[in-house]
Amino acid sequence: MSGPAHVQETNQEASEAASQAAHQSGNGVPVPDDHVVVLFGATGDLARRKLLPGLFHLAKAGLMPARYRIVGSAPSQAALSDDEFRKRAREAVAEFGRSKPEGEDWQRFEDALTFGAEDPDDPGPLLAAVRDAEEAIGGSPRRLFHLAVPPKAFPSVIEMLGATGLAENGRVIVEKPFGTDLASAEALNATIHSVFAESRVFRIDHFLGKESVDNILALRFANGFLEPVWNRDHISHVQIDVPEKLSIEGRAQFFEGTGTFRDMIVTHLFQLLGFVAMEPPTSLNAKCLRDEKTKVFETMRPLDPEHVVRGQYEGYRDEPGVDPHSDTETFVALRVELDNWRWAGVPFYLRSGKSLAEGRHVVTLGFREPALRMFPCTAHDSGEPRNNELVIDFNDPGRVAIRFLVKEPGPAMRLDEAEMVFNYADSFNAMYALEGYERLILDAMLGDQSLFTRADGIERLWAASAPLLEHPRPVEPYAPGSWGPESINRLIAPYHWSLPDHR
Ligand code: BG6
Repeated sequence: MSGPAHVQETNQEASEAASQAAHQSGNGVPVPDDHVVVLFGATGDLARRKLLPGLFHLAKAGLMPARYRIVGSAPSQAALSDDEFRKRAREAVAEFGRSKPEGEDWQRFEDALTFGAEDPDDPGPLLAAVRDAEEAIGGSPRRLFHLAVPPKAFPSVIEMLGATGLAENGRVIVEKPFGTDLASAEALNATIHSVFAESRVFRIDHFLGKESVDNILALRFANGFLEPVWNRDHISHVQIDVPEKLSIEGRAQFFEGTGTFRDMIVTHLFQLLGFVAMEPPTSLNAKCLRDEKTKVFETMRPLDPEHVVRGQYEGYRDEPGVDPHSDTETFVALRVELDNWRWAGVPFYLRSGKSLAEGRHVVTLGFREPALRMFPCTAHDSGEPRNNELVIDFNDPGRVAIRFLVKEPGPAMRLDEAEMVFNYADSFNAMYALEGYERLILDAMLGDQSLFTRADGIERLWAASAPLLEHPRPVEPYAPGSWGPESINRLIAPYHWSLPDHR
């Protein structure tokens, strides 16, 4: 491979990576080593909405290290004093946090916040802030760098971390989107690997931190009744459906250059597909889990543009900052096929888009019908496939439902649809649940890469996406508030896009 030389894994890193405890194992909740967390993009939207409130929640839940400091960073033109950063953090937590920024917990958290500006040619203030934070903690705290900055800034920050020596023994969280195609993802991986060994790289996909995504693993591999039917013999098709009600919400600059395929499909939905379709890993440690997920991606057929619907909501081209002739898609529905023994011939249908009728996160497995239709059915007598599904709804806090047919009471033998539901909200104390970002930042501090994406997996996804990226079909318009362009129904026929409470 050309490009910068790769940093070799040290013995210590290799043995740390190999001995990472599975994040589900044991009953005790692990607490990370002492840490200095450096938050690049500390004045940005992601830090305000998710990262600062999430870090405070971890602190309040007793999941932050015994001693820690959070150093906010931004280019010098957006630099803040420590007090200004604390004030911003307080406002962010008040607006987006689950608990109010008050009391002793808040005071302790606020005291741990400092700021250090960073420019590629002048990292001095950041270096000083990290040094002060480390001295305040004492000993040899770990360093965790969270790159909550636009992708174009990733290389310069990574190079600065390498050049200044800050990267030593540090781990790095890299935000999405990770590249825009195979070549850019390879180049970014090469830049990262010139400074950080893969065992210290945490490519974040917040969907993988959602409780119910982890629950796909629990459902499949902890229960004897599901895994035997989780294959082509019993499942006719799979849907991974993430419609969103919100529009681009003023993010024209980001969205115009990205579009739904890169923003949602490559990033979030393909990762979910990896968990749904993987073979049972030999253990739940990061290596085994990610090996299995990557094998799924290796079996993914190159995407056929004929099996992809690209949509754009009416009015998108009038949004401020959007090109009036824009061909950027705000909606994608596509069919994915996996060439492996478990799934050969089973289509996976993925859908996501902005300005749709509802916001949902749903994985649906459609079961094959029994060989004979012996019973008349009230709901479907048209010869269409009958409702026989397992539905995993991973909207936080999430639910799992089985939709099946039962006999209608009465003298006649007629069937109707029924549903058995498990609701997280009614069953467990949601207080202990972590949001996606919270869970993943905690895992990164613990050095557990299980729920983070790996270089080879991401590159493989971009390789499979190449035909679509090279020959996209034109976008089709759809009405805001609808479920997308009409043609998505042809894409999925003879099945239907099905959501738990819609037919
Ligand atoms: C982000 C995308 O990664 O995920 C957004 O950039 C999208 O466009 C968001 O709205 C969806 O996340 P969630 O957790 O709100 O479903």
